[in-house]
Amino acid sequence: MISVIDIIDQKRRGRTHTREEIFALCEAMMQGRAADYQIAAWLMAACLRGLNMDETVWLTEAFVASGRALDFSGIGGALVDKHATGGVGDKTTLALAPMLAACGAKIAKLSGRGLGFTGGTIDKLEAIPGLNASLTADEMRAQVQRIGLALSCQTEDLAPADGKMYALRDVTATVDDIPLITASVVSKKIAAGASVIALDIKAGRGAFAETREEAQALAKMCRDVGERLGKSFITVISSMDQPLGYAVGNAIEVTEAIQTLKGQGPADLTELCLTLGAVTLAKAGLAPSAEAARERLQASLADGSAYGKFVAMTAAQGGDVDALSDPALMPQPARVNMLPAWESGYVAAIDPLLIAEAAKLVGAGRQTKESPIDPGAGVMLFKKVGDPVEAGETLVELHVGHGAGDADALARVRAAFTFSSTPVSPPPLILEVVQG
Ligand code: URA
Repeated sequence: MISVIDIIDQKRRGRTHTREEIFALCEAMMQGRAADYQIAAWLMAACLRGLNMDETVWLTEAFVASGRALDFSGIGGALVDKHATGGVGDKTTLALAPMLAACGAKIAKLSGRGLGFTGGTIDKLEAIPGLNASLTADEMRAQVQRIGLALSCQTEDLAPADGKMYALRDVTATVDDIPLITASVVSKKIAAGASVIALDIKAGRGAFAETREEAQALAKMCRDVGERLGKSFITVISSMDQPLGYAVGNAIEVTEAIQTLKGQGPADLTELCLTLGAVTLAKAGLAPSAEAARERLQASLADGSAYGKFVAMTAAQGGDVDALSDPALMPQPARVNMLPAWESGYVAAIDPLLIAEAAKLVGAGRQTKESPIDPGAGVMLFKKVGDPVEAGETLVELHVGHGAGDADALARVRAAFTFSSTPVSPPPLILEVVQG
């Protein structure tokens, strides 16, 4: 059997791995025969020398094979899934999943917690008092059969080799590599069992793919690897040059998702949900075209059926349904500090990374994987890029968590905003739809 040292050496010299080598590396890692520093060395070699399409497909397969794939085939109907590459203020899943369920799709979605600058859907969902986001596969299956929708945290035996490698990538500057991201994302989606998968790839300052070209390359690779493994991936590339919506935090993001489900949400979040939802429903055969699907999704917001699915999911997972209609029953911050605009003119830019850092400093994000978050903390924007602004009016509210400070956060928020004395056009949100 080829040794781990030889596998690292092959990649260091820029050679192409065989399928056996990739599987051997993952097996050695899972069985504790490859030390973390050896995997880290291989990751760096793979980033610098590259992985081709075959190697990426094999790595994806090896990740799937390292755990137990979920089998939701008994649910029946069109099982769809979505995955986002992470962004700031990204509560798309909370709004989109109930919209899709209201239009007849079945969604058993596994999500993660926040790390780095990105917020996690599970942290947001758990801001709803009492809600259980740790369902077993059987509980998910039963809930999806009953109401069409379940959101739960990722189980440890779903592509565990990705989990191990991801933890090492996070600390070895090897996260933003297209083949490694592709294998990570596609393996988890394959292991989670859906047949149609929508990828929400962000491009910009607040995303792993900083440029549109990187996002396009990632979308193409995910689609091609997915196709080779029998899964249909469709991708929407959207801009992450400013936070999505106005709320960045946990409880406040849930409240914004609920407003969206009632048809009163921010224009950018609503548009992203409609675009992603339309291509997903059409691909799943639940609507004759993306245009028809978009109309159905809009109707689900107008007639209350999408919000109804969110309420049903909350009730099924033990959450306090009253808190959905009364934000005062959601977790509250220790205090709210208002930041007035210090200039008149137009908002020219809002740096999402600085807003994410501010949100973390007031308690909404994690410093390490284990650290707790304050569900009531966050940053609420009152302006988006292109909006006119008068000096003295509210620009941002800092929802400061218990035990957190706000001086550093305020400095980050101040640095995040750029103003212009002349009108600024709002940036485009949807950059491209890549059909599978
Ligand atoms: N999201 C993932 O699941 N994996 C990556 O590698 C990057 C983003």
